[in-house]
Amino acid sequence: MVALGEGMKIRPQRLQVWKREGRTIAMLTAWDWLWARLLDRAGVDVILVGDSLAMVALGHETTLPLTLDQVVHHAQAVCRGVERSLVVVDLPFLSYQASVEQAIASAGRILKETGAQAVKVEGGYGLMATTVTRLTEVGIPVMGHVGLTPQSVHKLGYRQQGGTQDGGDRILQEAIALEQAGAFAIVLEHMPEDLATTITQKLSIPTIGIGAGNGCDGQVLVTADMLGLTEKSPPFAKVYDDLGNRVVESVESYISEVRSRQFPRSPLE
Ligand code: KIV
Repeated sequence: MVALGEGMKIRPQRLQVWKREGRTIAMLTAWDWLWARLLDRAGVDVILVGDSLAMVALGHETTLPLTLDQVVHHAQAVCRGVERSLVVVDLPFLSYQASVEQAIASAGRILKETGAQAVKVEGGYGLMATTVTRLTEVGIPVMGHVGLTPQSVHKLGYRQQGGTQDGGDRILQEAIALEQAGAFAIVLEHMPEDLATTITQKLSIPTIGIGAGNGCDGQVLVTADMLGLTEKSPPFAKVYDDLGNRVVESVESYISEVRSRQFPRSPLE
């Protein structure tokens, strides 16, 4: 555990130094002050206010309904709980794909109103590479995201990407385009391990894998998945705890003690 206040605030450039040093990056998601504080205390390097919060915190079927206002609200809470970790915020669906101007306005709002240091965008070709170039030119650090991109669920599904020669080449080209556009790091989601390893070796910026094997410069999981808080987690997510069931058991004990008048004790201790 890292004590609050210990160590310096992590900046995006630090991740590139760590790649050169061979120090692996640990990233997790958070959606409110409570979880952000716990993750920061534990010493996670990067906290992602991922748009997965639409599913794990707001109960939507996909990430698509999330709005920019909602992301700003959650990112503000996360940033209030973080001292050391780098905070990256997902730009929600259709808050950046329409035009470069729209992306600058949305990303600018996130940096100005939340205190986060960077944004994440999905996809890497054409307008997205131009968008990343402009965002970095105006001083907004951008993390890319290729492979399975959940905002394209209606086009791609939640299937592994890059399994064919063409598919793999396309993802590699997207990653290269993002690096050339100025992205400081890239998430590689749900793709074959050898493809993710090749991308990692070809890029000088760090790759952070999720369902992409062990050859990336870092790893990310959705915190609710890795703690056993979700009812169904993706097959590649390692579940480190059974917190969902433990919460239910604790609440059942409380209910039973209230009903049997075991709690509170009288006189109060
Ligand atoms: O929204 C999210 O949680 C993400 C991770 C899966 C990388 O984008």
